[in-house]
Amino acid sequence: MSSWLPCRGCGLSEFSLGASLWAPRHRAVVPMLNMGSLPLANRLENPGSISDKAYPLVVYYCHNCALIQLADLVPRDEMFTEYVYLTSASKTMMEHFDRYAEALSNRLDLTTRDSVLDVGSNDGTLLKAFQRRGVRVLGIEPAQNVASIAEQGGVPTLTEYFDLELAKKLEKVRLVTANNIMSHVGNLRGFLATVAHVLGPDGLFVFEVPWVADVIRNNSFDMIYHEHLTYFGLKPLARALREAGLFLVDLEYYPTIHGGTLRGFASRSSDELSPVVREMSTREEKEADFWALKDFSERVPKLAHQLRNMLLGLKKEGKRIAGYGAPAKATILLNYCNIGRNILDYASDTTPLKQGKSIPGVRVPVVSPQLARTKPPDYYLLLAWNFREEILTKEKEFLDKGGRFVVPFPNPEVVDS
Ligand code: TYD
Repeated sequence: MSSWLPCRGCGLSEFSLGASLWAPRHRAVVPMLNMGSLPLANRLENPGSISDKAYPLVVYYCHNCALIQLADLVPRDEMFTEYVYLTSASKTMMEHFDRYAEALSNRLDLTTRDSVLDVGSNDGTLLKAFQRRGVRVLGIEPAQNVASIAEQGGVPTLTEYFDLELAKKLEKVRLVTANNIMSHVGNLRGFLATVAHVLGPDGLFVFEVPWVADVIRNNSFDMIYHEHLTYFGLKPLARALREAGLFLVDLEYYPTIHGGTLRGFASRSSDELSPVVREMSTREEKEADFWALKDFSERVPKLAHQLRNMLLGLKKEGKRIAGYGAPAKATILLNYCNIGRNILDYASDTTPLKQGKSIPGVRVPVVSPQLARTKPPDYYLLLAWNFREEILTKEKEFLDKGGRFVVPFPNPEVVDS
């Protein structure tokens, strides 16, 4: 692990480790929340090759630009060679990205002459939606296994990291998209400069990031993991864009996507600045600042305790509990809360790439929903809580038969029919 890089947003290179330097007037990047050593969230383990490798997870705050971030870096090859997240794994995301392509095609009046470059294109879900509307597309996806899925689906994809060297070989495009990728980027300033490089003069950069104000408000500390290097608030985000010569001109908010997602629109000119940007920045003001993060860091251990106790109470009553979904964030939730096989029989997940593996650290086996149906639990711990509505609707029969869900956030609660 390497650490102590400059602030990912503003470049400030002064770090301090001491809690005594929590005073906001101190101009440094300071540690705010220590989650201990945890396994890599997306690294599901194969039977027979259990490693139990864990890495420190500490959240920092930059007093200079207010960016919330991790400072300890796990080498990226360890994180992204075999990526098990598939955009197409949920109906919600398929529909979200179809509407995304529709809205952007209309907004920019895209034609067959225009091209879209999607950075972190995953299995090509978004680009396919643009292809259906006749737009030329190119995906960039460093994870070989998901890039191949996109290629097989007819989406041209470069299996490479997006950097200036690569960008110099690409033609300028009308639209660059990057969804749920910017939080993963180590060199954010370099990344944004690269985006600016490939963007045509009237181009638009559109991206989605989980909104840190939602993570804090919703208590969803399981969104914090090694792959998520940055937790975006609007102020530091707009500043980082500006330093790359891009202006945050518009915003949309999707409260049900990944627990609260911002879609940002950035262009080379600030001429068409939407009032929404100022409105949302004002709304965010006290929700993602130093004090909000400090309160959050004090709530997190208490919540973890509360969830574990609730599940142990159910076990004492003889209830059978399983996990619903095996998202990356489940690795964090289960390990941080110490919820292992003594509590969960298994986690059911629809992604074939995940089935047969186990959640690292806690070693909870991931099974298919078909297998889960042969041994249904009394309670499902909703690990994929961001798809709450989709899942509760889909599991109506389980609920009608007396099954229940434990929903971990914002505070652990039991949901029945
Ligand atoms: P997701 O929350 O999208 O991602 P992350 O890994 O970034 O936390 O992952 C949701 C997981 O839940 C994914 O592996 C698919 C699974 N899932 C189900 O098993 N059943 C469902 O009905 C839904 C909606 C998702």
